[in-house]
Amino acid sequence: MSASIGPVERYVVIGNPIAHSMSPAIHADFAAQLGLPLQYERMLAPLDGFAQTVASLKAAGVKGANVTVPFKLEACLLADALSPAAEFAQAANTLKFLPEGTMLADNTDGGGLCRDLDRQLRTLGLRLNQCQVLMIGAGGAASGCVAAFQHAGVQHLTVLNRTATKARELAERAEAIDLPAAGGGLDTPPSHFDVPGASVVVVNASSSSLKGEVPVIHPDWFERAVLVYDMMYAAQPTPFMRSIRNVETPCSDGLGMLVFQAQLAFEVWTGQSPNALETLIKVRQMLLAKPIQ
Ligand code: ATR
Repeated sequence: MSASIGPVERYVVIGNPIAHSMSPAIHADFAAQLGLPLQYERMLAPLDGFAQTVASLKAAGVKGANVTVPFKLEACLLADALSPAAEFAQAANTLKFLPEGTMLADNTDGGGLCRDLDRQLRTLGLRLNQCQVLMIGAGGAASGCVAAFQHAGVQHLTVLNRTATKARELAERAEAIDLPAAGGGLDTPPSHFDVPGASVVVVNASSSSLKGEVPVIHPDWFERAVLVYDMMYAAQPTPFMRSIRNVETPCSDGLGMLVFQAQLAFEVWTGQSPNALETLIKVRQMLLAKPIQ
């Protein structure tokens, strides 16, 4: 039996480069699950042409957009209103174009990470709000997650970074939104920031994997960890995951974060929530069949 189908709503993902994006496949699967007439395309914007691209999308009646590298900051600057997560990160990955011509900007990256962490922690009998997080890195990817950690009720955030001052600055900004936090250099041991009774989740938010490098942190963190998570993903385990393979702790790449941030964006646009886990299984199969270079 076919559902009653309304007019096709258009969405895009804007980036440069963009050919590698798996978002069209993810959103096509969401739309198919819910029987929604939704079209989602890749949109390559010139490096100096993001604002013009957004203007033309609005004029064409496009309902919303995902935004990826290198336009997340510019998306925030162009928006008429920001969600708390976009405001904290000063970066947006989700835009919603309203009929009166205004544009809302949200950042669903951190919320997507928290949904995937919570999903995996539940299999261990835990919830994210029972945990403290060690986050490696203090750049854009890291700051995109802080507001979501606060929202999820994370007990404490430790930020460790190659450049320790940047870690301390991000931790101070986290404290300003009522997330207990501390920052330091990569070699800082857990004893400095221990929260009694809180399980440790280690998240690699550094971009080191892009260069095939691995951030080296104090080994005691892995002794304490219940889950180790790399925001990067690939067909094979990432360099960070490989670097700790002698540790017994469960270890995950960031493909789930990609799918759950898309689920949140889909909810922002349509008010409906697809089954992200079903899609994640298909996207994993796609990645294995056609590895991203
Ligand atoms: P992104 O938007 O991907 O987060 P970014 O804002 O440039 O990119 O931040 C990159 C992060 O990865 C930074 O925290 C960086 O550490 P520095 O602040 O010291 O530069 C971290 N990073 C990059 N390469 C790294 C490496 N080889 N080892 C450890 N940390 C690394």
